[in-house]
Amino acid sequence: MIDGRVAILGVGTMGEAILHGLRSGSDPLPRGSVRGTVRNANRATELSKKLKVAVGTDNVGAVASASVVIVSLKPINVVRVLGEVAAAGALDHGPLIISIAAGVRTEEIEAVVGPKCPVVRAMPNTPCAIGRGTIVLTGGRRAKKKHLTVAHSIFRPLGETLELEERHFDTVTGLSGSGPAFGYLMVEALADGGVMMGLPRDVAIRLASRTLLGAAEMVLATGAHPAALKDEVTTPAGCTIAGILALEDGKIRSTLARAVERAASCAAGLGKSK
Ligand SMILES: NC(=O)c1ccc[n+]([C@@H]2O[C@H](COP(=O)([O-])OP(=O)(O)OC[C@H]3O[C@@H](n4cnc5c(N)ncnc54)[C@H](OP(=O)(O)O)[C@@H]3O)[C@@H](O)[C@H]2O)c1
Repeated sequence: MIDGRVAILGVGTMGEAILHGLRSGSDPLPRGSVRGTVRNANRATELSKKLKVAVGTDNVGAVASASVVIVSLKPINVVRVLGEVAAAGALDHGPLIISIAAGVRTEEIEAVVGPKCPVVRAMPNTPCAIGRGTIVLTGGRRAKKKHLTVAHSIFRPLGETLELEERHFDTVTGLSGSGPAFGYLMVEALADGGVMMGLPRDVAIRLASRTLLGAAEMVLATGAHPAALKDEVTTPAGCTIAGILALEDGKIRSTLARAVERAASCAAGLGKSK
């Protein structure tokens, strides 16, 4: 599906996961077809050895003959770095630009990369590192169906891909982008409860993790509303409803919903210089 070379600007946490996805799956990109960049030269050397692909610090050289440029820089660096490579003429051949930066809109990227480059925006999450991510995609003004198809093929080895309108992207960032961290907090808190009641820590973490995983899979597999599944397991005068009332006393629903709201509002401000 990908015709030509891929450059990844910013091989950090997410860039590394994407690179790994490109080099695995049923149709892996050959080693010589991927180039990455970072800021720090020592880190570039380490990554080249570890990932067995060329990682350097030369953004212009990396994108010059790439047909796809994946931008996984911190939001604050995106427009500046793309502006530098565009000014050097390295985007004149019109590669597809795929940005995963939170809060940076396609029109901001289109304005800096010039009229030849189609732009796709993606919002992945960290479970991409184990192929269990969720990746939401949207196309900018110049992106056609074929460009979104390329983006799907890049991210599919990393998890489930879906398309949404760009107006939802800050919300997606607050929900599925930040959400894994909210999940880790829930796993830790449930495990603390188990430890408090005498379970060894490792057993408590395993039980908590598998329980949340199973509950999420029940929602997806049955298509049932989570409230209906909850009602099914709450016996009158039973222990589950007792636990649920304790959660309600702690305002767990509004706390989680507000966490998404706050993270989404914060995402809207990313990429803007202060
Ligand atoms: N992490 C998440 O959960 C998540 C989820 C969804 C979306 N995102 C988005 O993904 C993007 C990357 O996040 P991350 O967590 O992967 O960040 P990260 O680990 O800090 O990676 C950023 C990378 O950019 C490199 N870099 C900095 N300046 C550069 C330059 N001028 N030229 C080339 N490379 C440069 C850094 O290099 P050095 O290592 O040498 O400093 C680093 O490798 C962000 O825009 C974020 O919004 C992240």
